[in-house]
Amino acid sequence: MTNIAAKLVESGININVLTDKKQQTDYKIKYVSEYVKQWAIISSERTDITNITFIDCMCNAGVYKDGDLCTGLEVLLIFNELAGRHPDKTYNLYLNDYDSKKIDTLKKVIPLLHVKRSNIRIIISTKDVNDYLVSLKDNKNVFGYSKIVILYIDPYDFGTVHIPKVHDILKHNYCELIFNFFISDYVRNWKNNSERISKCLGGTTVSSKEELVKYMEKEFKTGNIKYGFSYQFKTETNIELYQIMFFTPNKRGLEVLKDALWKVFGGKFYHKNQKELERMQTSLFTEEDEQGWLLKLHAEEAKKLLLFNSGKTLTYSEIEMLLIEKSMVKEGQIISHVLKPLIEEGKVIKRNFNVSKRNYKSDSYEIGESK
Ligand SMILES: C[S@@+](CC[C@H](N)C(=O)[O-])C[C@H]1O[C@@H](n2cnc3c(N)ncnc32)[C@H](O)[C@@H]1O
Repeated sequence: MTNIAAKLVESGININVLTDKKQQTDYKIKYVSEYVKQWAIISSERTDITNITFIDCMCNAGVYKDGDLCTGLEVLLIFNELAGRHPDKTYNLYLNDYDSKKIDTLKKVIPLLHVKRSNIRIIISTKDVNDYLVSLKDNKNVFGYSKIVILYIDPYDFGTVHIPKVHDILKHNYCELIFNFFISDYVRNWKNNSERISKCLGGTTVSSKEELVKYMEKEFKTGNIKYGFSYQFKTETNIELYQIMFFTPNKRGLEVLKDALWKVFGGKFYHKNQKELERMQTSLFTEEDEQGWLLKLHAEEAKKLLLFNSGKTLTYSEIEMLLIEKSMVKEGQIISHVLKPLIEEGKVIKRNFNVSKRNYKSDSYEIGESK
């Protein structure tokens, strides 16, 4: 993460107007910007793509009180690197926050990063998020042929963003979504403030957390969107705070997200904030040991998931999508940690149909216990 605390002092920005950063926020920024980085690198290499766009609908002031950059400006630095290497592409950064004081600060922070490339466009606005979503929906400058767009919606609570408005954008445009689903706010408020919650769901009422999760997945899996994955963030006392939900039309997008997830969280089932003391104590295990151990657990879960399809013949691609959407394993782990062990155990048969024995990705597999 990038810290500009020293520059802030020189620039005369009033630090007191900036937001304190919570422990989970660090990880949220790392996760989202790692995904955007990997996705932007891949998209920049594609000859059919002309525009790479990141939209932070609720972007904050660009910097936190400790001097760390907000996600939108981390993305600006990523774009800056790529824009130099790919002068034929245009990188668009849309930043919106309804708080005009935050946007005034953002406008003072951006020049401190010295980004001056003619193929980077920064479009700043101060709309309410719901008006902003409506203004984006039919915007042909943003969406359309040859344009890759990531829409990021990151509220402080559950009762602000009107979910049908997000649905409308996804239904009519080709784009990816990263949505901070503030489940703790729903759990706290759905009984005493059900009207506010129901308004955000376009009048739909849900009576449990599980129903709400299903509603959200249904609303976001629309239009071109085919794949989704959510990752939980918890407090130090193990209470769920929020889930970062990700939805994409593109299988490759989900593969890249899983890579970013493993890179930032090392295979942990969820992110949990640590108490001060826990943070100071060194772990008994090295990070590598821990990741290896977690991978074993995730691979076991993935094997079970696959064996639920006993009696079916599945292509590698079908197996991959099942496992990367429904378990923690990432694409690069499937052959060695799931398929090969199951084949050795005789529970899956590789058909070797028109492909060599060593080619796993073009083959199909009979699932089920063989004799
Ligand atoms: C969690 S912070 C965003 C953090 C930022 N996305 C990041 O990753 O660094 C939420 C932001 O939403 C803004 N916000 C709250 N309600 C809003 C609304 N109705 N419309 C637009 N922005 C809003 C707040 O001013 C705040 O800056």
